[in-house]
Amino acid sequence: MKPHRTIRRVEEAEALDGYAKAVAKVVQRAVRPRMIRNMLSGAKMGHPLHPPLTDVPIGAWSMSALLDLVGGRESEPAADLLVKAGLVTALPTALTGLNDWSDTLGADRRVGLVHAWANGAALTLYAASAVARHRGNRGSGKALGFAGLGMMAIGGYLGGHLSFANGVNVNRTAWDQEPTEWTPVLADGDLADGEHRTADAAGVEVLLYRKGAAIYAMSATCTHLGGPLGEGSVENDCVTCPWHGSVFRFADGGIERGPASSPQPHFETRVHNGRIEVRLAPADPSDEEGEGGIHQGDRRPLTRTSTS
Ligand code: FES
Repeated sequence: MKPHRTIRRVEEAEALDGYAKAVAKVVQRAVRPRMIRNMLSGAKMGHPLHPPLTDVPIGAWSMSALLDLVGGRESEPAADLLVKAGLVTALPTALTGLNDWSDTLGADRRVGLVHAWANGAALTLYAASAVARHRGNRGSGKALGFAGLGMMAIGGYLGGHLSFANGVNVNRTAWDQEPTEWTPVLADGDLADGEHRTADAAGVEVLLYRKGAAIYAMSATCTHLGGPLGEGSVENDCVTCPWHGSVFRFADGGIERGPASSPQPHFETRVHNGRIEVRLAPADPSDEEGEGGIHQGDRRPLTRTSTS
């Protein structure tokens, strides 16, 4: 059977929904505190924390299998150490994965659940392998390790499907073509003090917010999973995404609270000939006079937007 057909069946397995919903609820409650949410999401990193963490147990357990297979007696202590290293690092990896998974729905949530089951089985098998090795039962330790490797491969495959086929946790503004030249979006009089509203900027929906003399603008599409920030609530010069509660600063698009891990593309603003105009803010203020200028993909925040 072809793998993608099997995955399609998992994606359509509605029988998983009840269990997945119950588990997701528990996880959502556990990650509610802002510090935990930010840490597990990778809010300070600029992209999710889970994918790079997975490299550690996958690498450790893969190398232990290699040593078990061809390393001989001299490599046994190294193989045992790698099994333990994988076990230790699997825990934070699993926590970050659960955090990310708790925001998914439908087919992604079902595949994510099976991904977690497979990795949980791998973890259990490697824990049993470590115990067997510790007791001097090397044959069982190796066999359990190879079984764990198989489950890890299944989990890894499903994780790859979620990321690269379904785009889970991919920055939803990554392919937007934000205008880098001044672009009129709204009549100045159409945005009252304290008001926020969306407008079209050359095909990209932007969220505008006026506070006194300043006008702020950022992409209206949440980088996390594409939530409509125009429908979000505004408080303390930040907007809260209505879908999963990510909080972004208007001043620079930065993240106050996850689960988002990529800041919002944000814009410089000015009022020109009675119209509000925006252009993508440079990644770094020095870029304005530097060699490179503004490039698509340069989205790290400027310190603040301003009006003129
Ligand atoms: S879409 Fe998830 S926080 Fe915005």
